[in-house]
Amino acid sequence: MTVLPAPTVTEMPTADPGQRLPSRDAMLVARGVCKRFLGGDGNALEVLRGVDLTVGAGEIVAVVGASGSGKSTLLHLLGALEGADAGAVEIAGESVAAARTAGQLDELRNRRIGFVFQFHHLLKEFSAVENVAMPLRIGGLSRTEAMARATRLLERVGLGARISHRPAELSGGEQQRVAVARAIVHRPALLLADEPTGNLDHHTAEDIHDLIVSVIRESSVAAVLVTHNAALAARADRVLTLVDGRLVEPGAGASPAGMGALA
Ligand SMILES: Nc1ncnc2c1ncn2[C@@H]1O[C@H](COP(=O)(O)OP(=O)(O)OP(=O)(O)O)[C@@H](O)[C@H]1O
Ligand SMILES: [Mg+2]
Repeated sequence: MTVLPAPTVTEMPTADPGQRLPSRDAMLVARGVCKRFLGGDGNALEVLRGVDLTVGAGEIVAVVGASGSGKSTLLHLLGALEGADAGAVEIAGESVAAARTAGQLDELRNRRIGFVFQFHHLLKEFSAVENVAMPLRIGGLSRTEAMARATRLLERVGLGARISHRPAELSGGEQQRVAVARAIVHRPALLLADEPTGNLDHHTAEDIHDLIVSVIRESSVAAVLVTHNAALAARADRVLTLVDGRLVEPGAGASPAGMGALA
């Protein structure tokens, strides 16, 4: 198991002082979120039927549920990657619906949200440090400052000796460390992760769980983690199951199929 360097709090992204909120202020509020898809047969598929979710700063919510229950769809809606058919999503008090143009949505995402996916989605022609610096460059930071901040964060996640490596020159676990660093480097309000360790072996996954949990606690980002991994879900503050298009607490009618995914 990789031993992480001691946390250097000064290097960790924290909310800007002007935006600093008490630790449990709601960073994500979703109300009555609905999504339907039109299948190839012309029939509507009601995937989300009124999802309510509030997540505080520094809080980790794990979302579990059977395959096809709508977990990735929910993350896409929470992350403003797709529009909901009904309901509202607010991130750090900003309404996603208020972002009307594609440019405004991009801006909201770039500023407020970090994503970690099952596959790292790093840009293969760029080095680790350039990948991590990317959200800062998009946010308008100078190259020198962005690279310096990205370097410090990569050191924090144990990759100080790998900053010039391209993704193909990194192990799977290292690639996912870079992806986690890239997701939080711009100090987002919300971290969304979809099966972040679904592609890793058990020990590497545990290392990444440690990293994800520690960066969330240190940076006070609100986190929604979709996972089939029982060990990761167990480290969340709350575990909610997506069943019949709604999020439910354990014991509140979750189907055996949904919880079975964690067995
Ligand atoms: N763009 C789309 N058009 C039509 N149907 C879709 C679309 N995207 C997802 N679906 C359907 O919506 C349902 C939910 O899909 P989703 O990917 O959210 O499931 P999931 O819970 O993430 O599953 P898994 O655990 O396998 O990743 C599935 O039945 C899927 O086929
Ligand atoms: Mg999915």
